[in-house]
Amino acid sequence: MIKQSLGIVTLFLFTFSALPAQNKFVGTKMCAPCHRTEKQGKQMDIWQKSPHASAYKALTTAKANEVAKQKGFTTPAAETAECLSCHAPEHAAKNVEKSFNAQEGVQCETCHGAGSAYKTITIMKDRAKSIAAGMTEYKDAAAIEAKCRTCHNEKSPTFKGFNFEEYWNKIKHPVPKAG
Ligand code: HEC
Ligand code: HEC
Ligand code: HEC
Ligand code: HEC
Repeated sequence: MIKQSLGIVTLFLFTFSALPAQNKFVGTKMCAPCHRTEKQGKQMDIWQKSPHASAYKALTTAKANEVAKQKGFTTPAAETAECLSCHAPEHAAKNVEKSFNAQEGVQCETCHGAGSAYKTITIMKDRAKSIAAGMTEYKDAAAIEAKCRTCHNEKSPTFKGFNFEEYWNKIKHPVPKAG
């Protein structure tokens, strides 16, 4: 029993000391200037047209309220923490700058990590430095898929399956290869 709780305390301390505590969510506006150009691969455009950008908005419909009601919630979908946890995942985050808006749904920093420390050009140009400054590292496709499945799973009341390759092709936003 004691051993187990010590384990939890250690894990807790480790989790918090490993996180760069000062990192804040800055919002897509702060990523946009550099990530909207043709040369960089128009990530901003691609995201804006994806359902992730309207994931919060999807909770403001009559259909969403009906889904929430059927799940036994008495609050509107857009005010229900369980729904927000996937549709506006940073809705309760405290480490946010004024430019951040959780109603932008599933956004850049949801997948790439809070950007206050890595968003400068000198750090961004260097992948290792970006990761050291809090940018999420995905080691391989399996790691990416695991991230997707934190939301694309049976806990979604409207879940209709998740085919990684098919879904990734719909939202991927690569930097064009030089040359
Ligand atoms: C000042 C310009 C600038 C800003 C602001 C900026 N980026 Fe970047 N970012 C870059 C450049 C330049 C690269 C390098 C692209 C390349 O590989 O040629 C980059 C690369 C990246 C990469 C790929 C890293 C890798 O090598 O795997 C990600 C992910 C990324 N940015 C996300 C973001 C996010 C999220 C934000 C907002 C929080 C942001 N960027 C803000 C300029 C910027
Ligand atoms: C934080 C939660 C979250 C994560 C992480 C996430 N998604 Fe989503 N995704 C959603 C939500 C919520 C919707 C529904 C938005 C809507 O319909 O307005 C969605 C919708 C989609 C859609 C549109 C599906 C359709 O019915 O047309 C695709 C494609 C998709 N996601 C791909 C991905 C991929 C690929 C990843 C991993 C790289 C991923 N998502 C990670 C929450 C998430
Ligand atoms: C575990 C993450 C998760 C949770 C929790 C969740 N959703 Fe979703 N939601 C998704 C994903 C992912 C999609 C995209 C379709 C799919 O695969 O389920 C989605 C799609 C939807 C859609 C369809 C949008 C459209 O374009 O038609 C509605 C409506 C919706 N969710 C409402 C809700 C409501 C209401 C709740 C709370 C009771 C909720 N969701 C909780 C992940 C989630
Ligand atoms: C649903 C999750 C998700 C969202 C939302 C998202 N990205 Fe990404 N992004 C990824 C993943 C996963 C990769 C691939 C990472 C890798 O291969 O290491 C990626 C790759 C990138 C790359 C590098 C592409 C390359 O070829 O190296 C850049 C730049 C980038 N994203 C910027 C952004 C920006 C800017 C936004 C917001 C406008 C954004 N992303 C939104 C998941 C996401």
